[in-house]
Amino acid sequence: MAEIRHFLTLRDFSREELNTLIHRAISMKTAWKSGNRDYQPLKNQTLAMIFEKSSTRTRVSFETGMTQLGGHAMFLSSSDTQLGRGEPIQDSARVISSMTDIIMIRTFAHVIVETFAEYSSVPIINALTDEYHPCQLLADMMTYQEHRGDIKGKTVTYVGDGNNMCHSWMNAARQFDFHLNIACPKDYMPNAELSEELADRITITEDLHAAAEGSSLITTDVWASMGQEEEQKIREKAFAPFQVNAEIMSLANDDAVFMHCLPAHREEEVTAEVLEGAQSVVWDEAENRLHAQKALLEALTVGFVA
Ligand code: CP
Ligand code: NVA
Repeated sequence: MAEIRHFLTLRDFSREELNTLIHRAISMKTAWKSGNRDYQPLKNQTLAMIFEKSSTRTRVSFETGMTQLGGHAMFLSSSDTQLGRGEPIQDSARVISSMTDIIMIRTFAHVIVETFAEYSSVPIINALTDEYHPCQLLADMMTYQEHRGDIKGKTVTYVGDGNNMCHSWMNAARQFDFHLNIACPKDYMPNAELSEELADRITITEDLHAAAEGSSLITTDVWASMGQEEEQKIREKAFAPFQVNAEIMSLANDDAVFMHCLPAHREEEVTAEVLEGAQSVVWDEAENRLHAQKALLEALTVGFVA
């Protein structure tokens, strides 16, 4: 039997596979928009979507993606499955994977998706953990490619919390061959082990102005992620100097784009002026979750299509 591939972080695919996937996503988007809608490689297949946290984009994009590929998507919230009542991950993984063809999970600890993958007989997709959000980076890399071309050799600046988005940008720097400046408060730095491993790819600084200079892409994320709601007030204080505003954008290259995984908090991590401004590509970025994940679903079931 062929080895099952999972997508838990960007490191699960090679650079070549990721590039193939991004270009495939762009051509699938073009085909769909030009009315060529007969390609249904996932006919009769079911995606189980396990959500232990809220979602708008991830749920809508995976569910719509499965419909467009000819398959079915099943929404499973932890609060109304046995997962929420303590059935072990190992048991849930074996049972759910015995009846479905592919599974996506949004949860807390990254080890949950790793354990799920270990016990699953079908591919597992990480749809966000506390540590990583690789599906978002597929859409982000696709969006940069569409707007500005190859990101290889460019400088990208991530502003804010050293969280799941930051870690995925770090992995993207390695896999897509760009340099990542990370501007963050000292108490909110990214994972130390990952930072050390990717030291030649990243620069971590508290100097937001220096980090933005010479950048081709500025991106940020919320100050308090899902599960950190009670830290909102204390985080607002720590992150206040790390807002992406027009002044920060003016330090970047003239052709720099602004990205945000969304949902955004206007006048917190980003001003409304930047979010709605000419350099912002956030709406394309959100839509591209659909196209990028269609290519991902295809790659994990049918195989990579060049
Ligand atoms: N960016 C993102 O994952 O959005 P949702 O939380 O709405 O899925
Ligand atoms: N860092 C955010 C990303 C949301 C898509 C969170 O985990 O809530």
